[in-house]
Amino acid sequence: MPTHSKQQAPVSDRRAIIIDTDPGQDDAVAILLALASPELDVLGITAVAGNVPLALTELNTRKICELAGRPDAKVFAGASEPIARKLVTAEHVHGKTGLDGPTLPEPTMPLQDQHAVDFIVETVLDRDAGEVTLCALGPLTNVAQALEKEPAIAERLAEIVLMGGGFFEGGNITPAAEFNIYVDPEAAKIVFNSGVKLTVMPLDVTHKALTSRDRVEAFRSPGTRPGIATAELLDFFERYDEAKYGTNGGPLHDPNVIVWLLEPEIYSGRQINVEIETDSPLTRGMTVADWWRVTDRAENCFFVRDLDDQRFFDILTQRIARL
Ligand code: RIB
Ligand code: CA
Repeated sequence: MPTHSKQQAPVSDRRAIIIDTDPGQDDAVAILLALASPELDVLGITAVAGNVPLALTELNTRKICELAGRPDAKVFAGASEPIARKLVTAEHVHGKTGLDGPTLPEPTMPLQDQHAVDFIVETVLDRDAGEVTLCALGPLTNVAQALEKEPAIAERLAEIVLMGGGFFEGGNITPAAEFNIYVDPEAAKIVFNSGVKLTVMPLDVTHKALTSRDRVEAFRSPGTRPGIATAELLDFFERYDEAKYGTNGGPLHDPNVIVWLLEPEIYSGRQINVEIETDSPLTRGMTVADWWRVTDRAENCFFVRDLDDQRFFDILTQRIARL
């Protein structure tokens, strides 16, 4: 008798998503959550260069899918370089593999032959308008290239939910810019000007989703392999931000994109204008958020600022324990 059957909602009731990602420990936790959530139909996972080079982000994505017990998931490789910049990576945060912490076996599942950008375009065109949500967890290169390649997808996408930017919190890779936006500001500008419904999870909210010893142990204690691996990912990942910010625990960024799809009511923010700095070397990648609406610029995104952090971790812990 199974302890619990993985109740799958009828496909029609499930929200169709594509995850674009640069794993990255926090990306890994977001992907595990998505694959553990029956409300979501993960059509594919597209890897982009970011935290580490593309050869590692696609490999890491496949490792995570197998950790989740999903070797059937479709993983695609996308852009290896930003649109107009030299790639900047973050091994200092994520380790040289990009997934330092647990020892995960080399994957046996295949990487899909199709390019990630073509998969995004083809899938959004094939599905009904308003059906597919894009969840962007890394630099926006793949997303922007898909919008450039086939502008018609902009009006067909249900929504883009992305982790990126920061305003009241400033930046994390420079004083002005958050990493995902900084790496490819031209791509971010294309996405923020696309007219697609946009929900943004900036550092302003992710810095309130702090791990703690208890929260990390809550992943480990059920004793499942995905839970133990999640704790090991976070043990490694939080050390950098704990030292940098002097906090007990580090911010867990990317899973906020997936939790937004599951329980948006735990978040609050404002529909405002955000512009991306692409000219100034000093403030490259800055998300200039008109939080106080002092301009008449178009309100192009829902900019999230607060969350119920305990509920956030409860959702993560409960669902990853199901894998
Ligand atoms: O600044 C944090 C973001 O950059 C996260 O998505 C992290 O994974 C890195 O991609
Ligand atoms: Ca990421």
